[in-house]
Amino acid sequence: MRRGRSGVAAIGRGLGRVQGEGAKVTELPRDLPRDSRHDPVLREEVIVALAIASGERHVDATFGAGGYTRAMLSAGAEVIACDRDPDAIAEGQALVAEAGGRLTLIHGRFGEIDRLLAERGIDAVDGITFDIGVSSMQIDQGARGFSFQKDGPLDMRMAQEGESAADWLNRADEADIADVLYHYGDERQSRRVARAIVAARPLSRTGELATVIRKALRHPPGAPKDPSTKSFQAIRIHINGELDELTQGLAAAERVLRPGGRLAVVSFHSTEDRIVKNFLRERSGGDAGGSRHRPVSNAPARAATFGPPARKVRPSKAEEARNPRARSATLRSAVRTAAPAWPGHSIIKESMSC
Ligand SMILES: C[S@@+](CC[C@H](N)C(=O)[O-])C[C@H]1O[C@@H](n2cnc3c(N)ncnc32)[C@H](O)[C@@H]1O
Repeated sequence: MRRGRSGVAAIGRGLGRVQGEGAKVTELPRDLPRDSRHDPVLREEVIVALAIASGERHVDATFGAGGYTRAMLSAGAEVIACDRDPDAIAEGQALVAEAGGRLTLIHGRFGEIDRLLAERGIDAVDGITFDIGVSSMQIDQGARGFSFQKDGPLDMRMAQEGESAADWLNRADEADIADVLYHYGDERQSRRVARAIVAARPLSRTGELATVIRKALRHPPGAPKDPSTKSFQAIRIHINGELDELTQGLAAAERVLRPGGRLAVVSFHSTEDRIVKNFLRERSGGDAGGSRHRPVSNAPARAATFGPPARKVRPSKAEEARNPRARSATLRSAVRTAAPAWPGHSIIKESMSC
């Protein structure tokens, strides 16, 4: 597909300015409409990183409430958007109708996005974007079981199938629960929390779990930061296999991006960001670095599949003030080279320790 004028220019009026890659000043689209239910994090910065030209084909790998997809459509792209949550796909049908044939919604996991695209006769795209984690729609509905603030069934399954959080917590070994809390939630008192969970079984409601965690961590009622935050995040990441999905999704993106295609990834957790950073460092020819879990590889050098990654982008102070969820977000991006995709998932998978 041909590249033309920048998608940011195509959006037109009201351009802001931000320090993007290196010292370059990049223009931000300021006049995209905001959805009151869902404020997409780093949306303008993602659109800048994608540098969409009108008529290009882009993948939104995490459709959610469609915030990024709307911005991509406004920039003139044809969008193929994917989500593993059937509710997101059902709610997105109105946007499909509005988009006049420029939006295709796919229900599925982004870890197999290359297969999902191939089934529709697409083998290369101009851009692919990931906005990792849960959507505000999922968090806000107590019945989905993601929230420690809203009582509901202890579910947490984005795809609404497979083992629920209650199923797992009620059967898992105490040591395994502690490992998940420690590695995916940075919960320093993971053993104490895991012991309390096992003692309180069976658990079936998010409210019960939150109470068990607060008691275990001696949380004074009304104290500002709820200590269940970390454990809920960790259990959710485990139940949805989120880190494996991210690893597979990055490798799939490498396979479907055409030479010159852009990859943009927004993540909210240090472990996720490390996976993205190591992937881009490795695939752009830098050393992803050895670790206790992953000795330095002796594998033969391969051609870089991405150019040098752009400097990471963090939300502005204004966005953090408007949307507290943005505070932990990081955007990383890079441009695909013409080199063939590396086989398998490479070394980054082994850098995840749980
Ligand atoms: C943070 S939200 C995306 C919000 C979106 N950028 C927007 O502006 O509305 C993440 C979405 O990705 C979906 N998701 C998470 N992991 C996924 C995966 N492995 N495959 C497909 N969708 C996934 C979730 O169900 C959720 O709807």
